[in-house]
Amino acid sequence: MNKLIGPFTQIVTLANLPMKGRIEDEQLEIIDNAGVSVDEDGNILAIKTFADFDQDAFKEIETIDQEAVLIPGFVDCHTHICWGGNRARDYAMRVAGKPYLEIAKAGGGIQDSMKKTRAASEKELKDVTVERADRHFSRGVTTIEVKSGYALDIDNELKMLRSIKSADKETKADLITTCLAAHMKPKDFEGSSREYLDRVLDTLLPEIKKENLSNRVDIFTEETAFNVEESNYYLSKAKDLGFDITVHADQFSTGGSKVAVDNGALSAEHLESSTEEEVKMLAESETVATVLPGASLGLGMQYPPCRKLLDAGACLAIASDWNPGSAPMGDMLIQGALLGAMEKLSTAEVFAGMTFRSAKALGLSDRGKLEVGKLADMQAYPCNDYREILYNQGMLPPFKVWKKGN
Ligand code: NIG
Ligand code: FE
Repeated sequence: MNKLIGPFTQIVTLANLPMKGRIEDEQLEIIDNAGVSVDEDGNILAIKTFADFDQDAFKEIETIDQEAVLIPGFVDCHTHICWGGNRARDYAMRVAGKPYLEIAKAGGGIQDSMKKTRAASEKELKDVTVERADRHFSRGVTTIEVKSGYALDIDNELKMLRSIKSADKETKADLITTCLAAHMKPKDFEGSSREYLDRVLDTLLPEIKKENLSNRVDIFTEETAFNVEESNYYLSKAKDLGFDITVHADQFSTGGSKVAVDNGALSAEHLESSTEEEVKMLAESETVATVLPGASLGLGMQYPPCRKLLDAGACLAIASDWNPGSAPMGDMLIQGALLGAMEKLSTAEVFAGMTFRSAKALGLSDRGKLEVGKLADMQAYPCNDYREILYNQGMLPPFKVWKKGN
């Protein structure tokens, strides 16, 4: 059934904006007193002045009877929202001055979340994932990537991915799964890192394909996790198996974004430690530069060089990294606003980073802009000027969020 929604004080479509490089706010297409019509499959049919729609042609009209600014739903292309327990102890140690990598060496960190996630049942993991995804949805996030990687053995990684798949059926947001079994070699694995990766390649990835649990793999490239050589080995084999790839890159030291570009990854993610060299390399590539302000806030470290990436011509995506360790807040709106303020990004660059550019990091071209034929994934804010959204730094949440027009 075709449906008309409106009138909105402003619709900010993000149409006609470039996939890479700088964007000025003046480039935004803004339609005043506008409406949007949606077909039965949840795709956008038309966007124009509300008065120009023939209201009699629609079976349903969803009337918006307040001031409202409509923008595309956010796409969070990097999260770890499926986990058991919490890491408040790590957090307290970190704010008191102990470094993240030292806490990890002392038995905290990913290995701690691993124990708690292995101990959780598939249903428990599904339930917490739905809860977090629902919270995200209410704050405008209509597509959420979710990684495994807190179980680190074959059966429990499968458990995580199955629970994310079931969560996808219960939450309104779309959940996109990624296998991050290469997050770290678990302490209880007897063998080298290379042997662990071989186990994942030979046993886990074929089962993931068979059960259709994911078509994406990620790796944490860092001396304390998997080094450059191990990462290249793993990713080239995963690519041969038909997986799309993404990389946790340049978080504490460089190397990861070169791995990402060399292996044709969809995106290189983190980039807090990227230098001029990585900035130039990413800008010249088709690999999306995904930044995770929540990890800078959670670890109390510098933001990635976002301004430089955009000025050099990179495709800059912004995601939450929501996870129990480095990024417990998990809020796109607050993080996008803070990152924009600190890195001097235009509102248009922040919106682009959280919508169609992050969709590109997931290989998705059907969402992230309000254009004819794209999914009607949308969010409306109670204001009459789009600039109020980031100005309120997360305290003005959307009053309505649509997934495929519903
Ligand atoms: O993206 N850097 C590696 N992985 C996660 C953090 C994992 C954790 O500390 O639990 C991240 O920040
Ligand atoms: Fe992460």
